Order: sequence, then structure tokens, then C-alpha cells
Amino acid sequence: MKDAAPTTVYLKDYTPFGFTLESVHLTFDLAPDATRVKSRIAVRPDPAVPDRQFFLHGEQLKLISAAIDGKPVSPEVTPEGLTCKVPDKPFEWTCEVEIAPAKNTALEGLYVSNGMYCTQCEAEGFRKITYYPDRPDVMSVFTVRINGDLPVLLSNGNPVDSGEGWAEWHDPWPKPSYLFALVAGDLVAHSDSFTTISGQEVALNLWVRPGDEGKCSFGMEALKKSMKWDEDVYGREYDLDIFNIVAVDDFNMGAMENKGLNVFNSSAVLASPETSTDMNFERIEAIIAHEYFHNWTGNRITCRDWFQLCLKEGLTVFRDSQFTSDMRSAAVKRIGDVIDLRARQFPEDNGPLAHPVRPESFQEINNFYTATVYEKGAEVIGMLKRLVGDQAYAEALDLYFARHDGQACTIEDWLKVFEDVTGRDLSQFKRWYSQAGTPRLKVSESWEDGTLRLTFTQSTPPSAATPAPLPQVIPIAVGLIGANGDELRETEVLEMTKASQTFEFKDLPNRPHASILRGFSAPVILERDLSAAERAFFLAHDTDPYCRWEAGRGIALDTLNAMSLTGAAPDSAYLDGMIAVLRDDTLDPAYRALMLGLPGQSELAAAQAEAGYTPDPDAIWAAAEALRQALATRAGDLLARVYAGAQVDGPYRPDAEQSGKRALAGAVLALLTRLDNGTTAAVQYARADNMTLKLSALACLLRAGKGQAELVAFYDEWRHDRLVIDKWFMLQVGEAPPASAVETVRKLTQHPDFNYRNPNRFRAVMGAFTGHHAGFHRKDGAGYELLADWLIKLDPLNPQTTARMCSAFQTWRRYDAGRQALIRAQLDRIAATPDLSRDTTEMITRIQR
Ligand code: PHE
Ligand code: ZN
Repeated sequence: MKDAAPTTVYLKDYTPFGFTLESVHLTFDLAPDATRVKSRIAVRPDPAVPDRQFFLHGEQLKLISAAIDGKPVSPEVTPEGLTCKVPDKPFEWTCEVEIAPAKNTALEGLYVSNGMYCTQCEAEGFRKITYYPDRPDVMSVFTVRINGDLPVLLSNGNPVDSGEGWAEWHDPWPKPSYLFALVAGDLVAHSDSFTTISGQEVALNLWVRPGDEGKCSFGMEALKKSMKWDEDVYGREYDLDIFNIVAVDDFNMGAMENKGLNVFNSSAVLASPETSTDMNFERIEAIIAHEYFHNWTGNRITCRDWFQLCLKEGLTVFRDSQFTSDMRSAAVKRIGDVIDLRARQFPEDNGPLAHPVRPESFQEINNFYTATVYEKGAEVIGMLKRLVGDQAYAEALDLYFARHDGQACTIEDWLKVFEDVTGRDLSQFKRWYSQAGTPRLKVSESWEDGTLRLTFTQSTPPSAATPAPLPQVIPIAVGLIGANGDELRETEVLEMTKASQTFEFKDLPNRPHASILRGFSAPVILERDLSAAERAFFLAHDTDPYCRWEAGRGIALDTLNAMSLTGAAPDSAYLDGMIAVLRDDTLDPAYRALMLGLPGQSELAAAQAEAGYTPDPDAIWAAAEALRQALATRAGDLLARVYAGAQVDGPYRPDAEQSGKRALAGAVLALLTRLDNGTTAAVQYARADNMTLKLSALACLLRAGKGQAELVAFYDEWRHDRLVIDKWFMLQVGEAPPASAVETVRKLTQHPDFNYRNPNRFRAVMGAFTGHHAGFHRKDGAGYELLADWLIKLDPLNPQTTARMCSAFQTWRRYDAGRQALIRAQLDRIAATPDLSRDTTEMITRIQR
């Protein structure tokens, strides 16, 4: 169906609705092609709002009837909703509509996935279910009756009553429509319970398709840990008698925090050692926590409008990262977050899609569920906490919950609690919410008479979203290290507020080494001229795990740049540093695995473009290969020793300790395979009793041009399991040689199991492809054309997933004129597609500018 002409919505235009909804009653008569939805809403006009308009959103609905206080009315209906004349006193609105969930391929509103009814309402999906003021500042108490011939009928809140073919639910907590959910199907529960800190017993259920019962226990444990952690750390208790989670196979995102009824992409909750990797387990634990934490940061306190999305998402990501740090290794989590931020948020913030953490306009809100809103939004909270200190942070959060419970809030409300608790003026800090772009932070040092001076200069490149950025408040954590590696002072957080600023460290006996931006204390690009020797010093001695890792990263970047731009040989400082890491058994294996990783090839391309070079994806690929080969050769016998030392004995556990060892073994196996032609990998594959070891071995074999028999056997063994077959698709694309990645993708899209309507499967292939830097950026443009073909094909069915994938083109200006022209041609071709969705139109237009 064609979208209405795109219009831009502005933050500055916010106006309240003008009516209070005292209660909402919904009745669903489920049928795949003709579900009837009846609504009964008690409405009270709000005299404080002049020029009230009773406008209800509604899209793709068949209006059957509408009435006010029982008298039929004929509202004025448009493709966006309806407007009705209403009395100037409280009244009852009733309405009946018909919808067709089985035809809903966009997976927004009410849809059917494998015979199961399921809803997705955030951000603006509820308007595809019934006419309603579908905006987050309209909160109400919902009662839901579901009539349907299915064994399990679920909605938000607590169960009221049920019988054969029906169930009724009541949610006592006022909520916006985006948190509404309904699920109906033939499902089985993995059940448990949790007793809250005040002694309330909560029934917990994880609902899955029959056959998936064996993949529930890890998710359930993660849920209980999350509930406990939020009580212990934030004093937040759960507030209903029951908490339901449902796994669904067709889902555009990871998961959704609907009140009391979280809906999860099955990939974000189902796990077993045989079918899931360590990384899957860690991600599942984090997403379960994230959605659970939304119960307070998102649901009890929600957003006034969608411009405030970071209010709930930045904070909830920050909370889930704290949780993961507590459950696992804080150092490893922090470095992983920095890697992700640089891989996903930095390109966004420094390209045509750049937008502030709190955007000021949009056409399609679905396009703003971005790394900037989520991950940079979380970084901003981390900075705030650093600046005010842990104690003040805790007090501010207590005040936030006390003051705003039950409200729909703004970033202003959020910052005000910090101002009230600390007495600080946060108006300059607020620029982190209003300005796009990643600040560049330059540092220079001088030493004189026992005083070390650090001079910092900040500048943010102008963008369409922020043409004239002003200086931001940057917390810079600095440590001073002596020549023998001792910490000379406690780490200090410098608070930079000006464009240029000098900080002094006095009374030092000798010139120290300054370890800067410890813990990645601000989401900036640090520009520091360090000699190879200084980098090597930090790699060997820095006690801050992030800075130590970053030193190795810097050496790797330098050598890869030199290799790919000038044909230089691998830097022996890098090789020496990595040999030391391989030898150092005192380091956490997970941390060693991170140290052995190379920067992403797209990140390298970005760094080269930033430095004024034109990146060549093939040269970058070749440099990375050559560097790995050089390291493998140099390490020689050491590899087999480290590999042996990283073996796990005892039964599989997905915890930090075991997965760290497997990560190290995997990193070393990749090197070892370059020396032994895959002998060790083949043995590991044959012996492995878990998916982590299977997959890392198979990846090594494919990379070495082997493993075809294993690939076939793998498919035969797992063809019944969609999540495992996603991995099978993903791996073949990821490990394809650059010259033939396009052909690999073409072949896989012809496979009978390539169902592009399933977002997980589509992303397994196309996401892996766009992540294959040299494969996607093939010089003849075949990669661009292939992606564009599939975006054009998917857009009419699923605009949201199509639009997200468009971001693969956002970096086009980095590359040579030939590639630029080839990408532009594909962007033009997509833009010219008749009836292109609003989602994809907005993305392509922004990327083109
Ligand atoms: N609010 C969800 C989360 O962050 C993400 C989401 C957005 C899911 C929109 C579906 C649709 O947890
Ligand atoms: Zn979220």
C-alpha cells in the first residue's frame, strides 16, 4: 500500500492531545484475514488545551462503525486517521474496525508469524490495529478481551479470567499505545517464579513454539538475574503478578518491552549450547535485561514524544551495559562497546545520516532507532555519571523515579533531576543531545620544571543536522604512569568545556606517560601523535584495560594504513606486541582475544578518508591478510601452545570464563590455520560439542578454501532449525573471498531456504554481505547493484527492514570517483522506484544529500 506524501514532523511543533483517556476496553475477534477490533474508550476533554481536535490515528483500517455515547457518528476519514466532532464534556467513544493480520508482511501492527498472532506497536503500529491517539503522551488503563480459537491468548498486565476460546487481561498501569501487545497461538511455556524484594511472587513464563522448550532455560535465568539486579542497583521492583516473554520468528528488531508481555525475536532469546554461540548467549542475556529494565525506564516513565526516544533507550542501554559489566568482565564489555560504537555509530555520526541524540525532525520515526539514539545516547549518560560522580548519579536517578513515575517526559525533565541534585548548570552539557557529529579531540603535551601540561582542542565537523557545532563538555579521564609502569596518581577526570584548554599536573619528579581518555571516557575521536615506542609502552604497561587495548589498536591501524597505502611491510612493533600478548598467560583470555583482533576494514577506510586518502577496499583487504599471515608466521609454534592452553575442560557453560577461553582459542585457531592448512580446525570441527567451537572451526576452514564437506553436513544436520540455518547463510557470505562474495550471495538467495520475508534470514545474507567490506565494495559495482535489487524487492513488503539496510550506502563519499558514481546510480535507481515506502524514501534522500 502506498504511503501518504512524506511530511516532516518537528520537535518544536509539539502540542498536547487535548483529551484524557480514563480507560480503554478492547475486544479482538481473531481471524487471519478479517480480525474485528472493537474499542470502548472513556474520554474527558482537557479544558487546559484550547482548539482541541478529536483526531485519532488510523492506517489501513476498515471502519465498520463508530459511535459517541452509543449514537452512531460519521467521522471524517483520511489515510492517516479520523477526525470527529465531540461533545464538550466527558463521553464514551466506541468504534469497530476490521484488519487482515495474515496479509501484514510489514510486521508492524497485528500480524501472523508461523500461525501465531503477534503485535508490534512501537513506534506507530497501534494505529494499524484501531483508531486511537497513537502518541506516547496519551496514557491509559487497558482492559483487553481476546476471542480466538487458540490455546494461548495473552495481553498486557494481569490475567482477569479466561475460558475455552477467550481470555481477558487487565493492565492497571497507565500506558501509551506503543506498549500494547497481544499474542495468540499454539505455544508452550517454560515457567518459573521470582519473589520481589517486598515479597511479591511473580509468575514468569517464556512462551515458545512446541519444539523450542529446550532453548528456554538460559533466557529465564537471565530474566531472574535482571529482576534481582534492578532491585539491588536501582531499587526498582517489578509491579505486576506475571511477566510473560514470547519468542517470535518474524520480527524486525531484537525485542520489545510491551508492559508485562515482552515480545522477542527468537534469535534474541532462544539458546542452547548445541545451537548458539557464546556471543549469542551474551547478547541474549543483555537483551533480556534491556527489555526488563524498560519496565521502569520506558514504561513507568515514558517519552512525551518520539523525539525523546533516547530518554528511554539511551538510559536503558546504559543500564544493560552496567548489568553486563557486573555479570561478566567490565573491561571486556567496555572494549566491546567501543568497538561497536566505532563500527556503527561513528559512520552514522560522520556521514549524511548524522543526527543529534535527540533529533529535531523526522519523516519516519522508524528510521531513528539508530546507533546514535541508542549507543551514543548511552555514552552521554555514562559521561553524565562520570561528571557528577556515582553518588550524585544514584540520587538523581532516585529523584527521577520519584518525581516522574507515571509521566511522559522529556530530556529537559531528565537533566533537571541532575541539576536539582548537584546544583550544576547542565545547559552546555545538553549539547550532547542537540548536536550531531563526533568531536575530534586533539592533544599536545609539554613538560617543564616538574609540570606536565596537556593542551586539548576540540572540534566537531559541521553537518547538515548541525551546521555550526559549539564546544561540548568532555570528561577526559587521565592517568599518569611512570617509566616502570607504576601509576603515579589516581586517575583524574578533566572537565573540558572550551574549544581549547590546558590542564596542568604539578610537582612531578620525572616526566610521566599520560594515559588519556581512560575507559573511553567520552565518545570522541582522540587525535594524538604518539611514536611507535610510546604506543608500545602503553600496550605493555597501561593499567587501564581500554587504553592498553587502544594502544595495540593504534599500532595495528598505523601498520595497516602504511601497508595498504604505501605497500609497507608489517610493522615489527605490532608483531612484537602481539607476540607478548600471546605469551602473557596472566591476562584474561577474553581480553587477549580482543587484543588479537584487527580493526574493522570499514573503520580503516574511514580513518584513511579522514586523513585525506582515498581508501581502496581491495588494498585494505590485502593488508589485513598480509598482517595476519605475518603474525602467524612470526608466532609459529607459540600458536599451538596458546591454543592448547585455551581449551576448556568440563561441560559447556556460556559464562565469561569459558567463553573467554573459547574466544582466545578461536582467535589463535584463525592464525594457526594459516600454518597448518586447516588440520587443527578440522579436528576441532569434528570433535566440537557446541556451536561456538563448530562455527569458529568452520569459519577457519572456509577462509582457507576448505570445509565444503563440512558445510553440507552442517546443513543436513540443522536444516530444521531456523536460527542455525541463519548462521549457515551468514558464514558463507562472511568468509567468501572478496572477488566472489557477490556470486556467493547470488547463489544463496536462490537457495530454497532463503525466505527474504523473514528479517532474520534477509539480514543473515544481506547484513553479512554489507559487512563484507571488500566484497560489497567490489570495483565493478556488482555488489551495489545486488543490494539495490534486493532493497527494491523487499520494500513493498517490509519497509522498516529495507530502510535499515540502506545505511550500507551511507559511507559512499569516502570512496574513489568510480565507486561513488556506481553507488549514486543505485541510489537514484532505488529513489526512482514507483511507490517506494516513506521509510526507504527518507533514508535514500538523506544518504544522497
Ligand atoms: N524498543 C525496543 C527496544 O529497544 C526496540 C524496538 C523498536 C522494537 C521498535 C520494535 C520496534 O528494546
Ligand atoms: Zn530499548
